[in-house]
Amino acid sequence: MAIHQEALGAYLRERALTGEDPLLAEMHELAAERRFPIVGPEVGRFLFQLVRMMNAGRIFEMGSGFGYSALWFARAMEGAGEGEIYVTDSDKGNIQLARKYHLRAGVAERITYLTGYAQDMLQVTPGLFDIIFCDIDKEQYPEIYDIVRKRLRIGGALVVDNLLWSGAVADPEDTRASTEGIRVFTERMWSSPEFASSLLPVRDGLGLHIKIK
Ligand SMILES: C[S@@+](CC[C@H](N)C(=O)[O-])C[C@H]1O[C@@H](n2cnc3c(N)ncnc32)[C@H](O)[C@@H]1O
Repeated sequence: MAIHQEALGAYLRERALTGEDPLLAEMHELAAERRFPIVGPEVGRFLFQLVRMMNAGRIFEMGSGFGYSALWFARAMEGAGEGEIYVTDSDKGNIQLARKYHLRAGVAERITYLTGYAQDMLQVTPGLFDIIFCDIDKEQYPEIYDIVRKRLRIGGALVVDNLLWSGAVADPEDTRASTEGIRVFTERMWSSPEFASSLLPVRDGLGLHIKIK
């Protein structure tokens, strides 16, 4: 099930690609070639805006792939002094490629690269974050609630990709572990008194969860 009609999806994509950074365009091409799921420019633009709106200084990414979404975060921090970003992926090759792209973009010095299980690495990285972005395997989404709630500052944002899962969340016959993982996570976030949540129909559905207590 498509989230948007084809023509509307194309219209939104065209807007999102306007004036695209050449390095992001190159990464976008590699993702298409490898059929690797990146957030794409629609979500990338939102991530950029969020950093600027919040004046975010500390960001933790769970599931960074080869660094496309992280580059949007890093571009938003350019000229912002001390900001730092933690990039994580369970695949070493992805992390190495992310660092190569970020070196070319001139943003690698504000980024810490960690290979392994993002949930574990978030727990052992000291301090609170302004933004935590989650894009790991969907069946693991329910695990992040208890970890993330302790690591976001009050007023901080948890941003979670793929909450609509191409519409599968609304199909009662879809009982894949990934779909169930997203449903359980979504239910937990919406019933939590610690977060104010909304689901933005940007690309594949973006959860925005603000820590309110
Ligand atoms: C959808 S891709 C991330 C794309 C990236 N956010 C972007 O838009 O550029 C998901 C990535 O998460 C990694 N991954 C999945 N589960 C993970 C986990 N628990 N911890 C760390 N990485 C994980 C996978 O290796 C994969 O590269």
